[in-house]
Amino acid sequence: MKFAILTGGGDCSGMNAFVRAVVRCSLNEKPETSVWGALDGWHGLIYNKYRTLQKLDVAGIASAGGTILGTIRVPELATNYSLQETVAQNLHDNRFDYLFVCGGNGSVKAANTINKILRSENLRTKILVCPGSIDNDVCNNHGSSIGFYSALDKSLEMLEWIRDTASSHRRVYLIKSMGRDSAYLAMYAGIATGAEQVIVPGEIIDYEKIATMIDERDRDTRIIVAEGYNESLSDISAKLEAIFKKRNIKHEIRTVDMSYFQRGGSAAVTDILRASWVAFSMVKDAFSRCESGFYSAFYTGQKPSIISLEDASDDSKTSHAQIPQEIIDLTLALR
Ligand code: F6P
Repeated sequence: MKFAILTGGGDCSGMNAFVRAVVRCSLNEKPETSVWGALDGWHGLIYNKYRTLQKLDVAGIASAGGTILGTIRVPELATNYSLQETVAQNLHDNRFDYLFVCGGNGSVKAANTINKILRSENLRTKILVCPGSIDNDVCNNHGSSIGFYSALDKSLEMLEWIRDTASSHRRVYLIKSMGRDSAYLAMYAGIATGAEQVIVPGEIIDYEKIATMIDERDRDTRIIVAEGYNESLSDISAKLEAIFKKRNIKHEIRTVDMSYFQRGGSAAVTDILRASWVAFSMVKDAFSRCESGFYSAFYTGQKPSIISLEDASDDSKTSHAQIPQEIIDLTLALR
């Protein structure tokens, strides 16, 4: 058989473990398999850029951040039918039996659209997708995405560093967290570090109440602001400063953006293990000639949940970006 591997969307730690596992599991099971990496994600499939991958090519990469295959964003792929057609035709013309994808929301949707074209035109390639994104906004009902726990580890470390300086200076820090429209990263990081407040997308903020909370605190206050919240750190800061002035509150405010730092660095062990496990399961299924599908697992060794790409890319059928009420209750209970 002939396989292609693609890492798509925003890079995340754990993608390299996925690549290593697809290559090694395929070649160890059936050495005659030919395995190719699509270079720069979906971009590589549009422009037919691949490199062959042997077992030694993926040595020592599992814990490394980023993706050795690269990932260039192609937003037009979501709507441009002729690009989608090109990708489907290129996959078929290169005689790929399976495409293994590790990517986020956009990649799941692209895979679904391209799979529909492949099936309706009776073309060769099947597509197997595993969620890879720091946002954890892909199919939350069915596991957490690869890269999420790595980004959480980095966030926790940064938030602890900020605590040092915040408490030394008795300052308020407004700290931006990535996550697009999903509050997962900001919220879980807030739970882990014990942030005083997490501001999530869509929230209606009572700034007077936050000012009172800050006023009542003796030392540091760290407020995490999720990327999808509709005000910038400097706008939030200006609003709070105006209230501080009016109420004679003496704290200084500083802002800091953790964003791209959250995405980089070595992978968390849980992401390495789950990426390897899900890839292993996908490869086994591919050798049994399975249909296209979306694979995820909560923990290593758990039978992966497999759903259709159609369901995986339908926001109304999955809990994309929705934080379960229990997690919200936990956040509030820890304040
Ligand atoms: O999807 C991952 C993510 O890091 C989001 O959290 C963020 O909104 C986006 O990618 C940033 O994308 P880019 O790297 O293209 O600026």
